[in-house]
Formats: sequence, structure tokens, C-alpha cells
Amino acid sequence: MAIALQRRPGLAHLARGLFAALALMAGAGCEDRSAPATGGPGVAPAANTDAGGAGPAPTSDAAPIKVGHYASMTGKEATFGQSTDRGIRLAIKEINAAGGLNGRQLEVITYDTKGESKEAGNAVTRLITSDKVTAVLGEVASGLSLAGGAVAQQYGVPMISPSSTNPKVTLGRDMVFRVCFIDPFQGFVVAKFARENLKAGKAAVLFDQAQPYSKGLRDEFIKHFQAMGGTIVADEAFSSGDQDFSAQLNTIRAAGPEVIFVPGYYTEAGNIAQQARKLGITVPLMGGDGWDSEQLAAIGQDAIEGCYYSNHYAPDQPSEEVRTFVSKYQSEYGQTPDGLAALGYDAAKVLFEAMKHAPSLEGKALAAAVAQTKDHRGVTGIITIDQNRDATKSAVVVQMKGGKPVWVATVEPPK
Ligand code: PHE
Repeated sequence: MAIALQRRPGLAHLARGLFAALALMAGAGCEDRSAPATGGPGVAPAANTDAGGAGPAPTSDAAPIKVGHYASMTGKEATFGQSTDRGIRLAIKEINAAGGLNGRQLEVITYDTKGESKEAGNAVTRLITSDKVTAVLGEVASGLSLAGGAVAQQYGVPMISPSSTNPKVTLGRDMVFRVCFIDPFQGFVVAKFARENLKAGKAAVLFDQAQPYSKGLRDEFIKHFQAMGGTIVADEAFSSGDQDFSAQLNTIRAAGPEVIFVPGYYTEAGNIAQQARKLGITVPLMGGDGWDSEQLAAIGQDAIEGCYYSNHYAPDQPSEEVRTFVSKYQSEYGQTPDGLAALGYDAAKVLFEAMKHAPSLEGKALAAAVAQTKDHRGVTGIITIDQNRDATKSAVVVQMKGGKPVWVATVEPPK
């Protein structure tokens, strides 16, 4: 495991106005068909910004290629959808600026899932049946990708999840792909870091029983931590949306763990950190990628300082791809990209490469081309789609310092 010098990311997270503007748009029932995720408060979305803008009116041949995106643009996991959408739109903007696909521009249509699985299914149905998209990008949360993936599979339209890590998302669905690693690996990464770097022999777990992601990652962590000689001293559950974690945290405190693994999403993780510190629990908390949001520190405040989580990327990682992406994203949006933004960008680029190589954009042909993705140099690592339609990639571990994730380690997948 490579341990890096610890540095702060250069620029501050700005543009809170952007979040406010986007939340307003989405809250007002705006479908965001053509608006890029930019523009200050009160700026009306310009029509067809993604399809090139200036130039002659497109002929029917040159009509834009439609790509669907379903995402939590509002709700408890809103930063997941918002960041992913920005990453996707940045990729599409670059593709279009470079001439698109055989003279055709790409257009993204985004629907809000509000972080709910029923909405996720509806969004994918609508993208496919009424907008007639050629492919679907999304979702972030595994539970929502399971719902949306069922629809994509039923209609034979390829779907790429940028960031859902639960193994079941792609299982038995030949139309469904992902560009991220899966949780058996992520569980290994966190367990290894807890055992080797934190030297923890005793761990407690506090997981979200309502999220397939959280439950699956809990299982994997426990399996690996025990296999590495560690002991699980408490295994407690909550449900998404819970506000009070004191009963579980009291049990955990009494069990005396050296680390507490909380494989949930950022809203609950931030609240759990706060409540844990109030109860006098001082040991480090660890999370998985679900912690990745600027809202983690906004909610967790000082309580989250020093805690660790595994992720797909860190903005201060010393690689050329990361540096280039971070600077492009910062000039486009005025903020530092999180892992979701990087994965959204990578998923859109992988899809576009497949479109270039596919004999046609028909579902089966396009899916076959996505399946052939090999050694794509993404921001989040080198992406090769394997026989399970997943990507085997390295993971990073970051530590919260000064309210920001700072790169600590990169862990390669076992060969
Ligand atoms: N991996 C999480 C899931 O499957 C989603 C996620 C990915 C969240 C990356 C944050 C960052 O539910």
C-alpha cells in the first residue's frame, strides 16, 4: 500500500450558489432536459446547450444522439446526482466540441430520482419509452441502479452505472455495466487499512439495513476483517432517514472497538459522527465511497475530522489524468470535483468510445461494444470491463482534514 505525502487540495470549494440554483430548478419540477449544471441563481436554462448551440439547424440525419441520465438531483443524497451530472455534462461538452460522433452531437436528458427506487424505475422507463435514448447513465446508489437496471434490461437499452458498487447491480443483466470497482474489493480495502494502518484488532460496524449497498459492504468488511485476524465486537443497524443513533452507539461504546465502520451515505454518516463524539467515542470512524460529498463535513463538522473512507479517486492524487480533470472541472464549475463527478465523466467517455466502435447504436450492438472496453485511461483509473460487466480498478483511502478528503493511500486490486 503506497502511503503518500499529505497535502491539501489547492482551491476551496466554492459555488454554493450553484447548488442552491440547481436544487431550486429540480425542486420546481424542472426536468432539466437541456440545461447544463451551470448558471447562477435565477439564470434560466438555455435551450439545447449540449447540442452545440450555434451553427446551421441540424438536419434529421444530424439530430443529436440522446443519452439518458437518472440521478438523485434532490433529496438526502442530492450531491451524488448533482456531481455525477456535472461530470457527465463536462464529458459531453468536450465530445461535442471535438465534433461529436460522425457529425452528430450528443445530448443528455436528466431526470431526478429524488433518491427513491420507485422514481428511479419511472425515470428509466420515461427516458427509454418517451425520450427514446440510445443508452442510460446512472444511478449512483446501488438500490436505485437495481431498480433502473431492471427497466433498461427489459427494454434492451444499455445502461452504465458510474458508481454503484453492489455486485447484484450487473448480475444476470447483459445490458447493465459499471465503470467502478465492486464492494467485495472495497470491503477488503477498508479492512486492510483498519488492520494494517490503524492497527485495529477490534472493530464495530454500524450499517444501513435499508440500503443494499450498505448491507453488502458490511458483509464484505466483516468477512475480510475477520480473515485478517480481527474481531467484530459490535454489529449494529439503522435505517436510511433515522435521526437518532444513540442506542446503537451506546452498545458500540460498551463493546470497546478500536475503529467503527459505518458503510452508509454521507447524511447519516455525518450525523453518526456527531452523535458518537457527543457520547464520548473518540476512536476513528471509517466509511466507504458513500461518504463522498462536500456535505459530509458540512453535517459532521469537527466530529468527522481525522476519519477515513475508501473511494474511487481523490482530487489531490498525483496523476496526470486527475490533475487535468480537476483543472478542467474547476474552470467549468468553480469547485473541486468529488468522486462522483470523476466517475460520471468516465462513464460518459466510456459510453462514447463504445458508440464510436459499435456497428450501430441499437441496444445489443452498443452493449457488445461497451463490453469490449479495454484499458480506457479514465480519471478514476484504467477501466477494462470484465466478463461480469464490472471494472477491476484500484481504490484510494482518504482522510478528512480541514473539512476535505486528503489522499492517504492507493490500493491495487489483488492480481
Ligand atoms: N457505491 C455507492 C453505492 O453503490 C454509491 C457511491 C459511489 C456513493 C461513489 C458515493 C461515491 O450505493
